[in-house]
Amino acid sequence: MRKNLVVAIDGYSSCGKSTLAKALAKKLGFIYIDSGAMYRAVTLYFIRNDVKIDNDEAIEEALRHVELNFHSRDYQSHITLNGEEVSEEIRQMPVSEYVSEVSAHKQVRREMVKQQQRMGKSKNIVMDGRDIGTAVFSDAQVKLFMTADPKIRAERRFKEMQSKGDTTTTLEEVFENLAHRDYADTTRKESPLTRAEDAIILDNTALTEAEQLEFALTKVTPFIPQ
Ligand code: DC
Repeated sequence: MRKNLVVAIDGYSSCGKSTLAKALAKKLGFIYIDSGAMYRAVTLYFIRNDVKIDNDEAIEEALRHVELNFHSRDYQSHITLNGEEVSEEIRQMPVSEYVSEVSAHKQVRREMVKQQQRMGKSKNIVMDGRDIGTAVFSDAQVKLFMTADPKIRAERRFKEMQSKGDTTTTLEEVFENLAHRDYADTTRKESPLTRAEDAIILDNTALTEAEQLEFALTKVTPFIPQ
């Protein structure tokens, strides 16, 4: 039985996983780890260095040259790729369009899971992603599986992108990208997105951020030693 507390939050793309995970980590004083940002940063490296997804040798070699680090500033996750801050760039469309292919690759997953398990070895953490409760930390004390109406998810993501100055991507493009990623994430061979048997479903279509946090806290609090 692990001594440190692990909260695993999985679910579809743009379901508000990271918003909830950050709020929960902040409230509890836990470390927040955005596993999707790691797959995105690897994808950015592959794009920049023209690493082809069907070239296993090139992937193996590339993974040896990818160093990822998180810098948490007020629970906003900042990630560096070989020392360069890439938090903004990894959210843009070129990465979003390619990340499902890259994250489906066996060697990529093996390396990321190894790093994620190391991060959650001894500290209390909240980690969000697709396979955290099923593969990375199947022994997590609390597992949440988040879902929401696809249209609402696309609208939320679209607004977020607009607020960050992206005026070229349309709502339809965002919707299609989410649908594509849902399909790729749930049907891939390696650790597909699926609800762990012991995960609690949280459908946040009609919930505020405060309500989601309250719900999650009721699930985690019983595990916190008094
Ligand atoms: O959470 P996100 O949308 O930033 O994740 C980007 C992509 O990375 C997503 O399409 C699927 C993949 N991913 C994954 O396969 N496993 C994880 N634990 C996290 C993300």
